[in-house]
Amino acid sequence: MKRIPEPFRIKMVEPIRMTNLSDRQLALDEAGKNPFLLKSEDVYIDLLTDSGTGAMSDRQWAGLMMGDESYAGSRSFFNLEKEAQRVFGYQHVIPVHQGRGAEQVLFPCLIEKCQGENPVFISNYHFDTTAAHVELNGAKAINTLTKEALDTQAYYPWKGNFDLEALKSQIDSNGADNVAGVIITITCNSSGGQPISMENIKSVSEIARCHQIPVIIDSARFCENAWFIKQREEGYEAKSIEDIVAEIYLNADMLTLSAKKDPMVNIGGLLCIRNDKALFQACQSRCVPMEGFVTYGGLAGRDMEALAVGLQECTNEDMLNYRINQVAYLGERLKEGGVPIQYPTGGHAVFVDAKKFLPHIPAEQFPAHALANELYLEAGVRGVEIGSLLLGRDPDTGEQKCSPFELLRLTIPRRTYTNDHMDYIADALIEVYKRRDQLKGLDFEYEPKILRHFTARLKFVS
Ligand code: F0G
Repeated sequence: MKRIPEPFRIKMVEPIRMTNLSDRQLALDEAGKNPFLLKSEDVYIDLLTDSGTGAMSDRQWAGLMMGDESYAGSRSFFNLEKEAQRVFGYQHVIPVHQGRGAEQVLFPCLIEKCQGENPVFISNYHFDTTAAHVELNGAKAINTLTKEALDTQAYYPWKGNFDLEALKSQIDSNGADNVAGVIITITCNSSGGQPISMENIKSVSEIARCHQIPVIIDSARFCENAWFIKQREEGYEAKSIEDIVAEIYLNADMLTLSAKKDPMVNIGGLLCIRNDKALFQACQSRCVPMEGFVTYGGLAGRDMEALAVGLQECTNEDMLNYRINQVAYLGERLKEGGVPIQYPTGGHAVFVDAKKFLPHIPAEQFPAHALANELYLEAGVRGVEIGSLLLGRDPDTGEQKCSPFELLRLTIPRRTYTNDHMDYIADALIEVYKRRDQLKGLDFEYEPKILRHFTARLKFVS
């Protein structure tokens, strides 16, 4: 496969500590066999997340020096507002500290607006904090992901799509009055950073609009999704990423954005609303106690400057070509080595299918988590489980929820690691694959009641 070299040069480096096997065994024991609890200093290549871990550009760093730190009416806010309006075409802009900040401000307002007694949100797939904010506010989170996403081995270009029939039938069975919003997550993180086609976005929007249901775009990786549309969807080859982004947002009424991904800031987010002034005012009122005054929303002026620049740069096609090629390269190397992955690879990560990698480890012994442990021991590479451990138990019955996936996510931070690092990661995981029969599952030593995957301590099953 053709490798696209880095469209940047490196001005500053951060040395990373090289560790040996006994360092790593000690560190993992101290972390209770939970890579989340490792100190980052004990990690050589950190693939836990692409969120807030990218390298900002020189212009973004320069922006940090330009921040206006006024409490109210900061110049940096107006710079950010102008860029957000330009990119998304929505009138109302509220800065927030990160994506979940937008969720905690918006969702209660949408639930209040909802006519029905039993509010639900329907999504292709709710990200975990998104589902948490839906549920914390007494609503239900329903996923209607296309079935093609479940077969990791079969090529399908749009594994982030909604299953339109499932969407319609959920609207019918819950009653349109109870649907507080339809959330389109682009790209679909939980199915592997997989894109949604423009055709699907348009159909979802039409279905929602004919029932007067508000459409929200969960926008963490909106540029990566636009890039896939340009590559894969007929009629979009010649369009610019900016034009594709603008077209996507015509199909929704509001957006939440974790700016820690595509716009490449270390902290920041946005809530934007097309033209519903009453909703905007309700959100502003909630923003003040939850995030901060409406022209800073939990951010310093300098953070807003860096984000304004990030919004100018994130649609750059050379950068996106290189970025998604780097992820695909890691995927190809693993595939060649026999490692089963969600195929094709998505925008921000390679998702290794641990069900297929470790068929002898049952879901309740967390195969993807076992793999995360082993990859760390092998090479100091930290990935993250997206499967039964993350999903947790049913709060009513205490039973383990049944996860459609057992995946190890190798999430690639933007502009942070080189293609040599990708080769190192691939070589290490292929080594682990060769001795996969020897890997063991895990059981709890300590299981927290909520969001257990962050702080659980585990032990190998004997
Ligand atoms: N929506 C999606 C699709 C996300 O992937 C995330 C975060 C959020 C919302 C919440 O944004 O972290 O800024 O509050 N995803 C990160 C990840 C944490 O590792 O995938 P946030």
